Amino acid sequence: MKVFAGNSNRLLAEAICNYLNLPLGRATVRRFADQEIFVEVQENVRGEDVFLVQSTSFPTNDHLMELLIMIDAMRRSSARRITAVIPYFGYARQDRKPGPRTPISAKLVANLITEAGADRVLTLDLHAGQIQGFFDIPTDNLYSVPILTRDVKEHYALSNVMVVSPDVGGVVRARALAKRLDCQLAIVDKRRERAGESEVMNVIGDVTGKDCLLIDDIVDSGGTLCNAAEALLKNGATSVTAYITHGVLSGGAVARVTSSKLKELVITDSIQPTTAVQSAHNIRVISTASLIGEAINRTSQEESVSSLFD
Ligand code: R5P
Repeated sequence: MKVFAGNSNRLLAEAICNYLNLPLGRATVRRFADQEIFVEVQENVRGEDVFLVQSTSFPTNDHLMELLIMIDAMRRSSARRITAVIPYFGYARQDRKPGPRTPISAKLVANLITEAGADRVLTLDLHAGQIQGFFDIPTDNLYSVPILTRDVKEHYALSNVMVVSPDVGGVVRARALAKRLDCQLAIVDKRRERAGESEVMNVIGDVTGKDCLLIDDIVDSGGTLCNAAEALLKNGATSVTAYITHGVLSGGAVARVTSSKLKELVITDSIQPTTAVQSAHNIRVISTASLIGEAINRTSQEESVSSLFD
């Protein structure tokens, strides 16, 4: 087995290699003057079981292209099997046509990865489980919920905790955490009563006096999160903490979170944290390296991956 990384998340790739007790494979990903990407694999991969770690995070298109070109380089170097390890799968939110004459870009990206020559995909907390079916190659979608559960247990008194989904679409994810913690579940229901009027946040469930844990897959602008936190506090919650797998945190999102009433935002390292994230007083990053490392190990040994979540 050999593990290689593109430029998107080398810290996570190194942590995965530490877990696996393997050196990170030697490959360079460079740019020509016109920004074309050039990849060079600097060690033999003939007949190897190759894992390429690359999140398609900001700058999304560059990181996606790096991944495609790395897959191509491995294929042409006679790797036996190539697994694209994509801790954060960008374009996942474009998983259906929101209107006429719009693309389904998540499917297009899945096609590109397959066509480039990947034999398998290993990813984490896909925005929608169905995206697994966009790939016609074996695709394992890992869940961060065991890591989040462990962290919550280490930091919170469970007797007063209430798990909250920040929107109706995230209920299944929130329920999975509530079940593991044996806690109650509440839902923030965003509704725009009339076109042109601002959204009303209704909280379904009694959060009075509760330490609320908002759970979601993505925090991008931070809007969904901060609005839900406001609504919970207005409804009598004692505190609001958020557990979110993918810290996309675009534009002014970090500033929005740091100036919000959120006690803490806990994200994973599926996207490499920027220095702004690292120095934010209320953002903490937990690692997925052992989860992804163990999934890689089991894939390579042809063992069950799903039993990681039993
Ligand atoms: C939406 O379906 C996702 O689960 C997230 O709630 C959303 O992407 C968060 O985006 P933002 O932080 O920009 O509100």
